[in-house]
Order: sequence, then structure tokens, then C-alpha cells
Amino acid sequence: MALVIGGLFAARVVSAAPPQSKQPGPDAEQAGYKATAATGAVEALRSRIERQEVKLEFSPTQGYLPALLRELKVPATSQLLVASKTSANKNYISPKNPRALYFSDSVALAFVPGAEMIEVAATDPKLGAVFYTLEQKAFSRPQLTRDDRCLECHASSKTLDAPGWLVRSFRTHDDGEVDVLSGLMVTHHTPIAERWGGYYVTGDTGGQPHRGNLFGAESLAKRGNTVPSLSAAALKSLLDIAKFPEPSSDVAALLVFEHQVHMMNLLTRLRLDTEALDEKETLERTYPTSEAVLKYLLFIDEAPLLAPIRGTSDFAREFEAQGPMDAKGRSLRQLDLRTRLFKHPCSFMVYSPSFEALPLRARRHLYRRLWDVLAGVDETGEFKSLSAETRTTIREILVQTKKELPAYWRL
Ligand code: HEC
Repeated sequence: MALVIGGLFAARVVSAAPPQSKQPGPDAEQAGYKATAATGAVEALRSRIERQEVKLEFSPTQGYLPALLRELKVPATSQLLVASKTSANKNYISPKNPRALYFSDSVALAFVPGAEMIEVAATDPKLGAVFYTLEQKAFSRPQLTRDDRCLECHASSKTLDAPGWLVRSFRTHDDGEVDVLSGLMVTHHTPIAERWGGYYVTGDTGGQPHRGNLFGAESLAKRGNTVPSLSAAALKSLLDIAKFPEPSSDVAALLVFEHQVHMMNLLTRLRLDTEALDEKETLERTYPTSEAVLKYLLFIDEAPLLAPIRGTSDFAREFEAQGPMDAKGRSLRQLDLRTRLFKHPCSFMVYSPSFEALPLRARRHLYRRLWDVLAGVDETGEFKSLSAETRTTIREILVQTKKELPAYWRL
């Protein structure tokens, strides 16, 4: 893992170095960010509300949450409950009243029962992540308000200095305050034993240790976990679960989210680095970031699952059903959950708006490198953990399901 991160930040140093570079620093990047209008799913919903084509119903207990989940097509089963105070709504958050996160490939919502607002993060092709709040009061035309103050946490070295999503693991006190020094950014490289601090985790984790489901003294003591598996029924005994749409904080959803967040941030980083090149400049300065994207896309050095894992909600079934599938019914969304996250280790995020937002020449370069690896042409040895069979399967799935692949993929 150290190597991967080292490579990444080295890439930033490389791309910031030459004097002729027009690479904007984080501040300049942010100024452009603030002046640029957003597009995408949340903007579309904002316009529909404005034109009164849709009315967001206000539920007495969850406010606009159910309506937002429906209109933005975010599955309720992706619900993750996190009790650490890592939010603009922090005063309301505690293990008894956790914050619920929901996500799709491009939109995330954060809801805390009783809090004045719902938080929203969306992926925008020009901006990376864009943030909004929605006040939890019954209005005739509720307003999703863009809020760039969220960048204070959502654009830092933890998100590769680009506006992005976050997922962390903190040792957490029993009031939800975090032990700041214990905080980790979580990706699919993070060993399971270090993940999920501050989170509830429902499902069977096969007894493998992790930091979830623990608050207060037990969390702060650096011992192993005594409650690795939590059933939905057991969760119910710990908090008032009726405040939330789902009775779960599903372990499979959590694993997918942790993969996805860093993938999105890497793709945004690559887009920004590519856009910062001078017009006539070759892509060379972006190669280190591009290689980091490629390796992450193919789950190189993914932390292994030490025992089979099973969630408690319909998340896995619904997620897999989204496909797209090839003629043999295979898809990049099929979960493995025995020794690794996915059955065919190539990220489903190749179909996402974050990937499609990459400049064409960056995508072409990635397709070439991906082809080299999957066709067995790559000789760097960095991909040797992928068996010939796995490479062939991924190639076959992509050829049938990914639009825009160069013609040489089909020969
Ligand atoms: C104090 C730092 C901080 C601030 C300020 C903050 N967030 Fe976050 N946010 C986090 C962290 C950390 C997470 C990930 C949850 C975790 O793992 O603890 C997160 C998660 C989220 C998520 C779920 C998707 C994701 O990135 O994981 C949304 C949506 C979100 N925040 C929206 C917002 C909005 C909207 C604002 C501004 C109104 C905001 N946040 C301000 C720290 C912050």
C-alpha cells in the first residue's frame, strides 16, 4: 500500500514541477471550481423541482430522504450507519443516532435523524464531486443548495487534492467524537483489521477482526474486535432503527463503497492532471497517475478477505442485477466475497460518469494499457497476480459491455 500511495503523490510532484506548467495549485483549482456551474443528476433534479415537474414529499420522520433516494435512484439498501462525528451535522451524530450514508455510482446522500439538513454529494464531469444541502423542513419548493464550504474536508490530500468523496476509519468515543490520530483513509487496499472504525457493520464477517461495531473504551483500546459479526436483529437492540429506511449497515455495501470512493478520486485526479497539460504536450507527465488508476481498476494488491463475508440486506442482489452482463450472464458487478470483493477483478466504475469524464486521450491511453495487461502483452510484472483465465474473462466481458473500446480490442 505504501508503494501505491508513494507513486501517487510522486505523480503530483512530477506534474507540478516544470515551470512552463499551467497546472493550477489547489487554490486556483478551487476558484475555477466555485465559478463553474455543475451538471448531472442533482442539477437535473434541481431544475425539475424549480419547474414544478416533481414534488419532493416530506415524511414526518425522515423528511426528504425517501423522496431523494427515489428521485436520484440511490438504493436504500446501500445504507451505511456511521457514528463518528465527521460531518457538518456533527452535533447530532452519536452511536445512538448515527449518520446514514447512501450511494449509487454517482450520487451519495448523508442523513442524520433530527438534523436540520440532508447532505448530498454528486459526481460532476467537470468538477469532480459537488456538494449540496437540503433543509429538512416542509417547503412547497425545497432547495438543493450548492455548498462549496464542504471542500474544507472534501478536497484535501485525503481526496488526492481534488474535490472528492471520503471514507475513513476512526477509533471512536462513545459520544461519537473521534480519536483524530487513529484516522485512516480507507480504500480496497486497507486490511480488514483496520477498517470500519466508527461504523456499524451488519452481516457475517466469518469472525475476521475489524474495528466496526465498537465505541468507547473498547474501540480506543488497541485490542482486537470482540463483535465482528452483527445481525440486523442485534443492531435493532443497539439503537432505534425505525428512524432509518433500512435495518442494516450492510458489510457488502461497505466494501463496495470503500472501493468506489478511492476509484472516483483517482479518476478525478487523472482528469485534472490531464486537463492541466499544455495542448501540445504528450501525456507522459500523467503516466504515473494513469498507472495508479490502472492498478486500482484491476484490484492489484487488494487486501484479501480472510473469511467469506455475507451482508444482511438486499444490497448485493440489487447491485449485481444492475449489470451490464455479457452473453454468458457475467458482469463486473458480480461479487465474490469469499477471498476478494469481486468475482472478475476489474472495477464496474469503468461504466461510471467519473470514467467517462476523462479526456478522450486519457481514456485511449488507459484502454491501451488495459489491453496490454489483459492480452498478456504487459511485461512489467506488476499484474502477475491476475491469472490468464481472469484476464481473458475480463476482456470478454468488456468487449461485450463497454462502449467505445478501440477496434483492436475486437480483433
Ligand atoms: C469535518 C469534515 C467534513 C465536512 C466539513 C464535511 N464532510 Fe462530508 N464527510 C466527511 C467524512 C470524513 C465522510 C466519510 C464518512 C466517514 O467515513 O466518517 C463524509 C461523507 C460525506 C458523504 C457521503 C459520501 C462520502 O464522501 O463518503 C456526503 C454525501 C457528505 N459527506 C456530504 C457533505 C456535505 C454536503 C458537506 C457540507 C455541507 C460535508 N459533507 C462537509 C467529512 C466532512
